[in-house]
This record gives sequence, structure tokens and C-alpha cells, in this order.
Amino acid sequence: MATLRLGDTAPDFNALTTEGEINFHEYLGDGWGVLFSHPADYTPVCTTELGAVANYKDEFTKRNAKVIAISVDGIDSHHGWIKDINETQNTVVDYPIIADENRKVADLYDMIHPKANATGTVRSVFVIGPDKTIKLMITYPASTGRNFDEILRVIDSLQLTAYHKVATPANWKQGDDVVISPSISNEDAKGIFTKGFKEVKPYLRLTPQPNID
Ligand code: BEZ
Repeated sequence: MATLRLGDTAPDFNALTTEGEINFHEYLGDGWGVLFSHPADYTPVCTTELGAVANYKDEFTKRNAKVIAISVDGIDSHHGWIKDINETQNTVVDYPIIADENRKVADLYDMIHPKANATGTVRSVFVIGPDKTIKLMITYPASTGRNFDEILRVIDSLQLTAYHKVATPANWKQGDDVVISPSISNEDAKGIFTKGFKEVKPYLRLTPQPNID
């Protein structure tokens, strides 16, 4: 298994999920995707995470992003666990959870880190772009539940910076000023960034977020 890196094509696979058999790339279609792993079924932190993602469904849809979870337990276990998640997190999980009993997908995405957990996966997050390449990878230990506001924030940044010659500074969120890419000269920036820009240093130029009014 080769190490996955940003810019690599997200490995494709067929898998049994709680929404039936899927082909990963077909499931993603021409939008964005978020693949995230869970150490095991019927575990407390994972229960809250899967519920949080279900409750953010509209936020992912707004960003044209499909979510898909994976855990190395079987399909019957997943279906039983979903009932608990819906009950305890006051939600309806209606996105697929991969039943990866043979760890095919977990191995493909290097989600098992034996020194952290011999059998279950770590908490991996992969954000995949419409071109099927990996745009973001984050790895959390089993003991730390993910912040899905951060995942949404990163998708906002990825979608903004994919179409505009800007980058997003520390702690950026929708509506904040952004940084002009260093490759753009001041002369070109005047034509591109019609809302103007502030030159704090020659290499640090701020401009209002271009894709909002
Ligand atoms: C959890 O999801 O709560 C969990 C899973 C594995 C290890 C520790 C916590």
C-alpha cells in the first residue's frame, strides 16, 4: 500500500454499506466528498460524531459534499447501532456507513495505525474534490471526537481557494478577509480584486472575500 498524499486520486472501491452496495467514486458523483472512519460500533465518542454529521446534513448538502462513514464492524451491527444513534442524538442517520469487516477500505486508506489501536481504525478524515483527488487529510486519535464545524470550515476554504487566487489565514471563517496569493503582483491584484486590498507587508496582502457580496 502506497502512502496517500494530498493531490493523489482517492482510491476507488466497492463496498457494502448501510445504504446498500456502493461504488465510492460513483457515490461521490461530480461533487465533493468526506470519508471519515470510526474505531468501532457501539462506542460513545463515535455515537456522538455520527449523530453530529447527520445533524449537519443540510450544511454538507449546501456545499455539494456527500459524506460517508466507515467502521470495521459488520452490516447488522451498523444497522443496530444506527437505531441507538438516532435515539440518543435525536437525528436520522441517512448517509452510508461502510461495513469494512475485512478492513479492505481501512487498509486502502491507511486508517489502521497498529501502535494506536491494533484492530480498529483511527479517526481519519479525507476531503475529496470533484476531480476525485484528496484535498485534505486529518488524523485524530480514538479518544478525541472530531469538530465537524472545522471540517465544514475547511471545505469552505477549499472551495473558495479552488476558484480564486487567494488563501485563507489562521482561524478564517466565511466572510473574513482572505490573503492574496504571493504569485499575484500588486498590479494584477488591482484588476483581480475589485474590492481593493491592504498591503500589510509586500508578502501579506488582505482583501475582502471575493465570492460574497
Ligand atoms: C469511542 O468512540 O468512544 C471510542 C472508541 C475507541 C476507543 C476510545 C473511544
